[in-house]
Amino acid sequence: MDFKRHIAARLRAGELSEEEIYSLIALPPNTEMGDYAFPCFRLAKTMRMAPARIAEQIAADYPTDGIVTEAAAVGGYVNFRIDRVFWAKQTLTRVLTEREKYGSSDEGHGKTVCIDYSSVNIAKPFHIGHLSTTVLGSALYKLHKFLGYTPVGINHLGDYGTQFGKLISAFKRWGSRAVIEQGGLRALNALYVRFHEEAEKDPSLNDEARAFFKKIEDKDPESVALFEWFKELTLKDVGKIYDMLDVHFDSWAGESFYNDKMEPVVAELKEKGLLVESEGAQIVDLSAFDMPPCIILRSDGASLYATRDIAAAIYRKNTYDFYKCLYVVAYQQNLHFRQFFKVLELMGKEWAKDLVHVAYGMVSLEDGSMSTRKGRVVYLEDVIHKCIEKAADVIAEKNPELENRGEVARIVGVGAVIFGALYNNKIKDITFSYDKVLNFEGETSCYVQYTCARANSVLEKAGAYAAPDISAVCPQEFEVVKRLADFPAVLHDALEKYEPCFIARYAVDLAQGFNKFYFDCSILNAEEEGVRNFRLALTDAVRITLKNALGLLGIGVPEKM
Ligand code: ARG
Repeated sequence: MDFKRHIAARLRAGELSEEEIYSLIALPPNTEMGDYAFPCFRLAKTMRMAPARIAEQIAADYPTDGIVTEAAAVGGYVNFRIDRVFWAKQTLTRVLTEREKYGSSDEGHGKTVCIDYSSVNIAKPFHIGHLSTTVLGSALYKLHKFLGYTPVGINHLGDYGTQFGKLISAFKRWGSRAVIEQGGLRALNALYVRFHEEAEKDPSLNDEARAFFKKIEDKDPESVALFEWFKELTLKDVGKIYDMLDVHFDSWAGESFYNDKMEPVVAELKEKGLLVESEGAQIVDLSAFDMPPCIILRSDGASLYATRDIAAAIYRKNTYDFYKCLYVVAYQQNLHFRQFFKVLELMGKEWAKDLVHVAYGMVSLEDGSMSTRKGRVVYLEDVIHKCIEKAADVIAEKNPELENRGEVARIVGVGAVIFGALYNNKIKDITFSYDKVLNFEGETSCYVQYTCARANSVLEKAGAYAAPDISAVCPQEFEVVKRLADFPAVLHDALEKYEPCFIARYAVDLAQGFNKFYFDCSILNAEEEGVRNFRLALTDAVRITLKNALGLLGIGVPEKM
């Protein structure tokens, strides 16, 4: 139940509408003060009274009932108290009936949201730098779906550009089919690195690469076949990682998909008088918006990354009629997105306002950075495997008797990688640390998973329990109830702000609340039957909600740990 709504519907505050009142109602900093608070400061001017006086009046007039049992004026606030028994009953009934759907809604019904994420580059390593876009995008995808939207996951593959000419040249000179088939993406990358080393000694290799690239463009069968093969190998390798991380896409339309869709865009730009020539290139001048020009065609007539993105946005609007189109891409590309969003706006696309660059910070490992060209790369696959191995060590130590240790280690290890990337506000740069993400006592997914396993074990020992008849709620129980009740609002906020970290923090917070309750209150040995049932129901609701929260991030929960 939405208590804010309940309060707002009954509260009279000067000229304010129910919606205005609703949006003003906030959570007091601690539960001692009340469960909800309404600030009266904004009313002082129109009502010509001191906020404290207004609060007294509102509190006196408020019709308390079986739900809101108290309205008290404190300073310029009216603090409301909700009946705890009612709150607990309401919440538990909801969680325990909705179960794996708890937290979901249909607020997004009928709205399609395109989410461009992960967007890997063909024949380039899938490294730790791709972790955030992959797991952030995937979490946003799952979250949108859970809240009733129709998400379209798009992997805007980097499958166009001169690097493919380099690869063909390198493959023809030093490659072998067998080696590449065997080594996959890493072998391809080794070729790429070798090309750069050799081209430093012999710059004519660059001309050869350009010629091969031109051959792909001219649809020379051999070059196209090689390119398709590189693509296939890459997708096979990244597919393994997507499977491990539970990441899915609905469309794999990459940059090359737009090869034949740019001409009309260029024509439209020309027709609208937006294209100007500059040093042989065709550009859109953005100086009025304090931005460098957006280059549409190079002097040799070739299109650019931005040209493809403009064509892609138009294509997506026509194909999906999106409500929003999100681009989960590192903040290094801020300018690129501002530029092409602006170009679309100048073209008169009123929907340009619905394009959102969901920017995020960098991930690095504790031991330094990396460079694709020189071959110093930290492969995401290696990071995941190392996390799984380390998780296996911790589990072997903690619970050597555990049956399916390998599977549990996999769930815990993968979860640690995802959670490690999602726990902070997305825009922050993060340093990935194995010890930190696998700390069972820290703010980690394994802490949350462990809490679920603890709840499972309590419930297993208890066996079936009767529906609780709640007559009182102690503070520890109440802290759990309140957090449980908060889940739908947290999901709503996480979506509005594109911040899956709200869900990650929520999970840790709920797990902490539960653990405090678990240590302070006896569940299985509760003195009264009614209390025992209530506590078991709470335990059940916690495990369900934690599982739902982690699930939205793409993280599983082992039954036992
Ligand atoms: N492949 C690009 C890169 O690795 C990211 C593409 C993001 N999506 C887009 N529509 N520009 O930098």
